[in-house]
Amino acid sequence: MSEVSVIGLGPMGVAMARTFLSAGHKVTVWNRTISKADDLLQVGAIKAESAGDCIKRSPLTVVCLNNYETSERLLESADANLDKRTIVQLGTGKPHEARRAADFFASRQARYLDGALLCAPDRVGTDQGMILIAGDEAVWSANQPVLRCLSSNIKFTGPQIDTAKLLDFAYLSQRLGTFIGALQGVLLCQAGGLDAETFAATVAADARTAQLARVVQHASFDVPVNPVETWAAGMEQLIGQAHESGANAEVLEFFGALIERANVEGLGKEDFAAVIKVISRTFRNPAHD
Ligand SMILES: NC(=O)c1ccc[n+]([C@@H]2O[C@H](COP(=O)([O-])OP(=O)(O)OC[C@H]3O[C@@H](n4cnc5c(N)ncnc54)[C@H](OP(=O)(O)O)[C@@H]3O)[C@@H](O)[C@H]2O)c1
Repeated sequence: MSEVSVIGLGPMGVAMARTFLSAGHKVTVWNRTISKADDLLQVGAIKAESAGDCIKRSPLTVVCLNNYETSERLLESADANLDKRTIVQLGTGKPHEARRAADFFASRQARYLDGALLCAPDRVGTDQGMILIAGDEAVWSANQPVLRCLSSNIKFTGPQIDTAKLLDFAYLSQRLGTFIGALQGVLLCQAGGLDAETFAATVAADARTAQLARVVQHASFDVPVNPVETWAAGMEQLIGQAHESGANAEVLEFFGALIERANVEGLGKEDFAAVIKVISRTFRNPAHD
């Protein structure tokens, strides 16, 4: 037995497995492309034979896959009795997917927490990596000592299983407004004779926002922190969530149309700051045509 398992070794899963190992935990890992585990195996991780086997090998398993469809498909074939194992799913998804996952694991006698990663992989294991976790408070308390090594900024959002996912969307929405507002602010500065660096150094809301302005200053769009295409995919989910929940989506649709236009114009692989290339020109929102 190990202490914690990790299913999914994309950049996030690898960062989490490494963090658990660095904290001295015994870790089992599984990934579809198992070669991505090679570096982790070198530093002590144990390889599982399947996703189901990975769950069986530890009392606690963190699942971090591209989406919930993938995890559902993978875990459908796992043992029908997961024998009181605890699963924490941290990949991006919608609130209703968190509820469905909770039902799925309950039907297999497993305990389930659902969470969200509000940070980049390089922030995992630091005090800057915000992580949200929802679910049964006793299950959270029992697993908190291991999970807390992922970030000192890990927050329990309450017993309602879908709250971490909902807050993740709310956070994304907030960041979107800050980022697009900052790019508009940089445009105002430039039109008035100040450069983007002045914006970054004086009024940028935070480090990432200042970084966006500096990408514009140095035209370093091709070294993306968060590429336009990642945001374009996220916008689909965000707008979908607004529609499904009955929240007004007009503002999100406007921002989404800007990002989609940047994507369609071939800026998908560039940093989000490249959206300034779209908003610096006259823009008619197709959503309003
Ligand atoms: N990276 C970030 O900055 C960031 C920030 C916040 C949240 N997140 C979320 O964290 C989750 C993981 O992100 P990530 O960046 O680590 O990588 P990702 O590219 O979103 O997901 C990669 C993982 O999903 C697996 N996968 C994809 N399709 C699969 C399939 N059909 N069958 C089995 N496995 C499949 C991959 O396996 P293979 O290796 O075999 O392809 C890999 O383990 C995502 O939900 C993402 O939205 C990421």
